[in-house]
This record gives sequence, C-alpha cells and structure tokens, in this order.
Amino acid sequence: MTVHFIGAGPGAPDLLTLRGRDLIAACPVCLYAGSLVPEGVLAHCPPGARIVNTAPLSLDEIIAEIAAAHADGKDVARLHSGDLAIWSAMGEQLRRLRALAIPYTVTPGVPSFSAAAAALETELTLPGLAQSVVLTRTPGRASAMPEGEQLAAFAATGAVLAIHLSIHLLGKVVAELTPHYGADCPVAIVWRASWPDQRIVRGTLATLDAAVGTEMERTALILVGKTLGAADFAESRLYAADYDRRYRPLGADPRFPEAS
Ligand SMILES: C[S@@+](CC[C@H](N)C(=O)[O-])C[C@H]1O[C@@H](n2cnc3c(N)ncnc32)[C@H](O)[C@@H]1O
Repeated sequence: MTVHFIGAGPGAPDLLTLRGRDLIAACPVCLYAGSLVPEGVLAHCPPGARIVNTAPLSLDEIIAEIAAAHADGKDVARLHSGDLAIWSAMGEQLRRLRALAIPYTVTPGVPSFSAAAAALETELTLPGLAQSVVLTRTPGRASAMPEGEQLAAFAATGAVLAIHLSIHLLGKVVAELTPHYGADCPVAIVWRASWPDQRIVRGTLATLDAAVGTEMERTALILVGKTLGAADFAESRLYAADYDRRYRPLGADPRFPEAS
C-alpha cells in the first residue's frame, strides 16, 4: 500500500500530469484538498472509489483516513492544488507517514504561478529586466512570516514577485511595494488561472487598487515586476547568431567542438 501525493494543477483538468492521472485512476481511495481541486481531475478516480474532501478535516482525521486505507491494503491518491512544493501542507503529512512507516510517492503538478504567467502570455524572466522570481505570500492567520521574509526585503532586490494568498490585502501590498518598484511598475492579478471563469486585471502599482474593486477575492495571484508586459528588453545571447555554444559550434576553433 502506498500514498501517492499528486499535484493536481491550477484548475484546468487537463493541466494534470499523465503520471498523476494514471495514479489517480489506479487508487481505490482519493483524498482531495477542497474546492481548488477540479471535479474533472476527480473524474479519473476508478468506479466505486472512496473520494473524500479533506477541507473540513483536521490533520489527525486525514491521517486516520490514510491509516484506515493502509490497514485495508488500499492505495491512496492524495491531491493538492497546483504543485506540492509550495503551500500544500504536504510536509506535515509526510512526517506523520514516515513515523507510521506508511510508504508514499510525490508527483509534481503545474503551480498556479506558472498558470498565471501563461494566462498573461508572459516570460517572467527577461534579459536585463529580471532574472529572479520570488514565490511568496503575506502573513496569514495560520502562518506568520519568518524574520527577514517581509515583502519589502524581497522588493529591495527588484525581482519579480508572485504573491500568493494575499489578494484580500492588496492595498497593503501595493503600499509596501511602491517605494521599491515605483508607482509605474507593472502589476497583474490573475484570478482563478486556467479555470473557465479566469479573470485578469493589469495595471501599475498606482492604478491597480482602483481597477480591481472588491469582487476578486480568494484564489488570485498578484504578480509584480518590470517584465510584466515589457516590450523593451534585450534578446537572449543564447540564440544570438554569433554565440558559440555546444549545440551550435562556430568558427575554425569553436569553444565547444561538435566531436567533443
Ligand atoms: C494554498 S495556496 C496553494 C498553492 C499551490 N500549491 C500552487 O502550486 O500554486 C493557494 C494560493 O495559491 C494561489 N492559487 C492557487 N490556484 C490558483 C489559480 N488557479 N489562480 C490564481 N491563483 C491561484 C492563490 O494565491 C491562492 O491563495
């Protein structure tokens, strides 16, 4: 018996990996984390599967579900939205499973920041403008921010910020970031990226708050940085015609001869 942790993707059911789909189809028990896991993903469960929404359960109750499946010798598909590496609460479950000697695997998923960038048709890292993306959040009721991880500290680097779990604090986010990025810095909010009701609002730190209004609550990402919507950036040297590289060696004495 194995518990398969699976990143269920940002919302669109076809943004699930083939491995994730096949594991879901093979597991007689499926535990999924609330409304962010789309029904289209649950449709891969085999007929008669036990399908449990864990949103109202405590960690103890979730582990009890897994332990019961373990006692019955039934594999479990454990679904979390997006990817498992960020804000999935997988870490604490893995620690409990290790203590109980229950085997598990981990299958990644498409994170919401990737889906949001795709919705914006944007490369977040562009030569000369930004080469780092910070995946972060503001403090919540359940999670304080560790010392040194304040928005202003990340903003001081000029990196692109993908701010999760914070749309309800948009005014505060804008106020904290404006001194670092400037009022004309581009911002985009992507609400429910890849869902049928996906919405996008673009603006600058100066204009955004008014443009968003009050209707966009909960499942949204705030993206801030110079690369959003930028048209004036250098081309990558990697594809420059005169750039000598392993797969396109140049000249009589290339740095990367083809035969080597
Ligand atoms: C608990 S975290 C889960 C993050 C997830 N593990 C991931 O890989 O993106 C929930 C937050 O992720 C963001 N989020 C998740 N799905 C989203 C989507 N489809 N569109 C926009 N933001 C999303 C929102 O900021 C939301 O508050």
